[in-house]
Amino acid sequence: MAQTSWWQRGIVYQIYPRSFMDSNGDGIGDLRGISARLDYLHWLGIDGIWLSPIFPSPMADFGYDVSNYTDIYPPFGNLDDFDHLLEEAHKRDIRVILDLVPNHTSNHHPWFLDSRSSRDNPKRDWYIWRDPQPDGSPPNNWLSYFGGAAWTLDEKTGQYYLHSFLPEQPDLNYHNPEVKQAMFDGIRFWLKRGVDGFRVDVIDRMIKDELLRDNPLNPDYVEGRDNPTGKYLRLYSENRPGIHELIREFRAVFDEFKDRVMIGEIAYSTDPSLICGFYGTEQAPEINLPFNFAPLMLPWNAAAFRQFADAYAATLPAGATGNYVLGNHDQTRVGTRIGLPQARVAALMLLTLAGTPFIYYGEEIGMCDVAIPPHLYQDPQGINIGISRDHQRTPMQWENTPYAGFSTAETWLPVAPDYPVVNVAVQRGDPTSMLNLYHTLIELRRVTPALHSGTYQSLAAPEGCFVYLREADLRQMLVALNFTNEEKTITLPRYGKVLISTHLDRVETGTQLTLRPDEGVLVEL
Ligand code: NOJ
Repeated sequence: MAQTSWWQRGIVYQIYPRSFMDSNGDGIGDLRGISARLDYLHWLGIDGIWLSPIFPSPMADFGYDVSNYTDIYPPFGNLDDFDHLLEEAHKRDIRVILDLVPNHTSNHHPWFLDSRSSRDNPKRDWYIWRDPQPDGSPPNNWLSYFGGAAWTLDEKTGQYYLHSFLPEQPDLNYHNPEVKQAMFDGIRFWLKRGVDGFRVDVIDRMIKDELLRDNPLNPDYVEGRDNPTGKYLRLYSENRPGIHELIREFRAVFDEFKDRVMIGEIAYSTDPSLICGFYGTEQAPEINLPFNFAPLMLPWNAAAFRQFADAYAATLPAGATGNYVLGNHDQTRVGTRIGLPQARVAALMLLTLAGTPFIYYGEEIGMCDVAIPPHLYQDPQGINIGISRDHQRTPMQWENTPYAGFSTAETWLPVAPDYPVVNVAVQRGDPTSMLNLYHTLIELRRVTPALHSGTYQSLAAPEGCFVYLREADLRQMLVALNFTNEEKTITLPRYGKVLISTHLDRVETGTQLTLRPDEGVLVEL
């Protein structure tokens, strides 16, 4: 088997730093807190952590508005705290991936302060400025993802600037070579420090149409029914010609260092050819792991997942590693989407499919979305268009003590009311808990080449079931997932032994097995 890198075999765990562990009792998580929980992550068995943004930021979009790319947001700690975290993580064989937000900065970033100061400032062209239309309206019809126009007028200089997200997040102009160099220097700063890679935010949106043409109306859009930010197709504002060349330049910076990983957030899609179009080629490599968000978008049914996984496996370029994302800080948690019994089936699927699994913090204990009333929303998307991501960003539930062991003070978002029973301490002691399911599956994946690096092939299965084989070194693993709440009987291709059931109560051998409602099994053939 070819030599592979850790991120091709391993598992990445996403930490939302504000909500993972508070070490200093101010109600928000921090870097020392993460360090204090590394032993837990080591026990869990993951290979890398991806930290959502930790750089200085006014927090208009909770860190996705960066005001300095080479320092730490003070409430999270400082560079010494970061170096300590990196060193302690590496001691435990855990890699650290940071979140890079190159499409836009904060409006408080000195680059933008310079840029907006006058029309002839040398940094004017670092952002995207245009004159108003003759009637004073914005230069085109582009909409912000967070509601309203993607343009804000700067009264003082009389021009509009572009912001794909909040007005506090002005978009950089990547047609300007100085912008690229400044961002590349920011990347080098962290890679030199020993960071193992970056997850790159909205990487496919860094290049815009040079003519800034109007986006066409979305023919499927229904006023009053649909999210108003989807009124136009983003034809001219994302995935434009030139984006692949720019990504290759970013990748070349990563490749100045040994074995670093570039993970890219591209548009949410279930089209394998769109996702796979971002790997590049061996001669001109692009993203190591362009996010595959299909599990967040497909209807929860076996046929849809089989069809997608088959097409994805067939479309991946030779030598490329796939990936599967089951949850993140922007999406409703999996337990809320499909219910906890099926979330166990989803865990087995995530940890046995071909591709690097991404686990969002708290999924391993079955944390669900927390009801937060609109007047307590912190997320600008919730405040502006009513679709709040706060529900899935609540504090990690460690134990049955006040504030769930996350903090000693009132927390920035409420702790889930189920924390007395849904927490790490309780679940570690319960042999059939979600946590022990994750822990066992992670261990099995780690020690089984068929699971972390083997071939993938789906098999015919009863309706409502998704069954596939993973194979390496002549060892065959069969995964049978029952997506329904009815019993289903599976005939195995040959005699097999159940290694684990999602119910964690079953070990047996045979050529036929009956899956109970909401059950998945891993079988060695
Ligand atoms: C995608 C990030 O995941 C999301 O949280 C953020 O709001 C936008 N990009 C803007 O940076």
